Amino acid sequence: MTSSNPLRDPRDRRLPRIAGPSGLVIFGVTGDLSRKKLMPAIYDLANRGLLPPGFSLVGFARRDWEDEDFSQVVHDAVKEYARTPFREEVWQQLAEGFRFVPGAFSDDEAFTTLRATIEELDKARGTGGNFAFYLSVPPKFFPTVVQQLKKHGLSQGQGDSWRRAVIEKPFGHDLKSAQELNQVVHEVFRPGDVFRIDHYLGKETVQNIMALRFANTMFEPIWNRSYVDHVQITMAEDIGIGGRAGYYDGIGAARDVIQNHLLQLLALTAMEEPASFEASSLVTEKLKALRAVKLPKELGKHTVRGQYAPGWQGGQEVHGYLEEEGIDPHSKTDTYAAIKLEIDNRRWAGVPFYLRAGKRLGRRVTEIAVVFQRAPHSPFDATDTQELGQNALVIRVQPDEGVTIRFGSKVPGTSMEIRDVTMDFQYGESFTESSPEAYERLLLDVLLGEANLFPRHEEVEQSWRILDPIEEYWEKHGRPEQYTSGTWGPKAADEMLARDGRSWRRP
Ligand code: BG6
Repeated sequence: MTSSNPLRDPRDRRLPRIAGPSGLVIFGVTGDLSRKKLMPAIYDLANRGLLPPGFSLVGFARRDWEDEDFSQVVHDAVKEYARTPFREEVWQQLAEGFRFVPGAFSDDEAFTTLRATIEELDKARGTGGNFAFYLSVPPKFFPTVVQQLKKHGLSQGQGDSWRRAVIEKPFGHDLKSAQELNQVVHEVFRPGDVFRIDHYLGKETVQNIMALRFANTMFEPIWNRSYVDHVQITMAEDIGIGGRAGYYDGIGAARDVIQNHLLQLLALTAMEEPASFEASSLVTEKLKALRAVKLPKELGKHTVRGQYAPGWQGGQEVHGYLEEEGIDPHSKTDTYAAIKLEIDNRRWAGVPFYLRAGKRLGRRVTEIAVVFQRAPHSPFDATDTQELGQNALVIRVQPDEGVTIRFGSKVPGTSMEIRDVTMDFQYGESFTESSPEAYERLLLDVLLGEANLFPRHEEVEQSWRILDPIEEYWEKHGRPEQYTSGTWGPKAADEMLARDGRSWRRP
């Protein structure tokens, strides 16, 4: 299957990373994540020849389904969301390994059936007892599911075989609940067998932060307080909360994406060079950076939260957050959050990191902008440099993946006018290889037991230590400011930067 795979680029000389005999059990298999991300990712991995021939997928949920019904659901999800072309022979081989176990998480009988199903798959498909359990369920069910796995002898492999737990966010809603969750999971699984998903780490452009910084010579010498004025990390979405009221209300933008995705981006941007790309070296450096994060003293001045009001987006009139279905009309949940942080170490002392995330903003864009100081001296006339801004290096995480460098250049003509220009690297232009979807990469890593793209529980807890005081402050002080949907967020966020003599980028 591997050598004849038409999807593999024959110029790719690297050895393919193919998972060994294994299977995956998904709890919460009827949810959106499973349908839109996990099922298509599994098919795409199989289609790229990266799964073993006997790979098996077990769905577990409270539905009155047979294996065939489950197979049909996966089929529909694959047809709708997979990134690679549908190939009947790949589908057939994969679908032979689909099983469905109906039941509630507290149902002992269902876990007995799950155990029998795994044993049957080991015999029929050669999965070798190697199974990952994906908990795509709300955290309140974690204790029940992991304890059931333990009780039914499913949490530890026999002999050389492995069992792993894959956990979706949210990893709690504050430090205390995160610690409790970690305790529950670690009572059953060894720390090295627990994989926490932060899908941003599965994105090519996020992994490229490390390549950009540590595989090159030209960036690292200026990546510090001597040259950098500030860093802006933006995660803007144009969508609202869609059908996720139940999850989102009471959680909000900061807990939903700053605690995890944005603080991971900060850690990768700010950390020192790791000794290697191994999980333990990476965690050590990310954790050091997160531990050095310092909150501003006046949280009221240096943090802002907002909530989207009705407006226009893509030519359509859209509801405000408080009018969304399932949302408490008095909700104080933030759909926008902006935070100023500093990193208290020799490299970054005095350099602010501004983080912002929001829904229903001007457009969907995630980027990290490293904005440099102005030249210490300019031999040019002030009038000639009016259109010269600060140099910047922008890592465009999505959707227009690449890197932009902004610098000043002489405007052609007879005077010495200088204006900002950009130099762009675009993935699509420089590479013919296609990027795997984040979940593809991460699922493959789980099956291979490679943990470098998964945050450890210490990082999760440290991130809550950063966010908790901010959430507590917000809880006590007023309401989020309303901002019109389709704009760039609350006015207070612009004022927050203006007070520092800076402004947000309009990506
Ligand atoms: C998830 C958040 O982690 O990331 C969502 O829970 C958000 O609210 C999503 O929409 C965005 O992911 P991406 O990959 O589209 O940037």
